[in-house]
Amino acid sequence: MTATLITNIGELTTNVARDDDPCGTLQGAAVLVSRGRVAWVGLAADAPRLTDAETPPAAEGRIEVVDAAGRAVIPGFVDSHTHLVFGGDRADEFEARMAGQAYAAGGIRRTVAATRAASDDELRRRLAGFVRELHAQGTTTFEVKTGYGLTVADEERLARLAAEVTPEVTFLGAHVVPPEFADRRDEYVELVCGDMLRACAPHTRWVDVFCETGAFTPDEARRVLTAGIAHGLAARVHGNQLGPGAGVRLAVALGAASVDHCTYLDDTDAAALAASDTVATLLPGVEFSTRQPYPDARRLIDAGVTVALASDCNPGSSFTSSMSFMIALAVREMGMTPAEAVWAATAGGARALRRDDIGAIAPGRRADLVMLDAPTRTHLAYRPGVPLVAGVWKDGARLD
Ligand code: NIG
Ligand code: FE
Repeated sequence: MTATLITNIGELTTNVARDDDPCGTLQGAAVLVSRGRVAWVGLAADAPRLTDAETPPAAEGRIEVVDAAGRAVIPGFVDSHTHLVFGGDRADEFEARMAGQAYAAGGIRRTVAATRAASDDELRRRLAGFVRELHAQGTTTFEVKTGYGLTVADEERLARLAAEVTPEVTFLGAHVVPPEFADRRDEYVELVCGDMLRACAPHTRWVDVFCETGAFTPDEARRVLTAGIAHGLAARVHGNQLGPGAGVRLAVALGAASVDHCTYLDDTDAAALAASDTVATLLPGVEFSTRQPYPDARRLIDAGVTVALASDCNPGSSFTSSMSFMIALAVREMGMTPAEAVWAATAGGARALRRDDIGAIAPGRRADLVMLDAPTRTHLAYRPGVPLVAGVWKDGARLD
């Protein structure tokens, strides 16, 4: 088993909070990785002597030393919200939007038609391409939602295919009401809460609902989430994306791990979030791609809300998987400091997925790390659009 010492790290973001630094930043640091986990973190000058036969990794054989040469290292990005199993794309819709057309939930039905028409192998190939894309950009954990099948068989197959690439799979049968149920929405909700949920639950950890005008009402959303919870799934919610609504309050009331979008919030929503364990996951790729106002991250953080950043990568509202881009948008448009944005894209995502094995660089955590071709994490926002990922380790193995 190979052990790795990454040393001469100019700036290490551990996310182990210290004093007034939630990022637990260390200058001149080193990280020792062994058996897929972080074994030691500290100043480079104090790094374990790898030639010492008594040092456990040395006893195991080969030790690789990586000289970061003053570059920054951060935890791997945790993208807690994606929709990566789908067929087709909607570039034409994006183009129309950039020419002034508004985004509406109904576009989802076009992707549903294309996804139903795609074979398992096509979807699998596409998914594998996305996984390569995510890894290359430093995302080491990602969630994937169903929601473009909307029949029992199609939702089950999307959940199954997603489970081949990540343990974080979310059942989103309640994405929109499919056209064949247009006049029978109550029957569709019943199907989602019954046969569809039963078929998908074995492949999924989460249940989600799009609680929004044009998608599902708060009452319908509550039914779906309650049924999912009764099947052993944990809840997450798409809420307050296109306008004010009950999504946030419902998520908090049901103990959801996260409520995602949070673009249109009132003071009651912010207060409810602050008093809860529900993370507010902000998805600025959506506001970028739909020309909506950005969520007010500053207000949420100042109110004491835990904020995560995610890509929402999907063919309609945000067709990007770049967490660096989310960080740049959050800093430029949402009032977050670079440190807050990097924390939200790593530790915040881990909180949104209720994972305590990822999102930080500390002994015992999974060795998911990203080395940047930059001296500090601030460069992720300071140099937008520039590929700054110089090395990625997942479970201690180098991916690039
Ligand atoms: O998170 N809000 C619901 N679902 C996606 C949009 C999906 C689509 O437009 O295809 C979202 O933005
Ligand atoms: Fe989404």
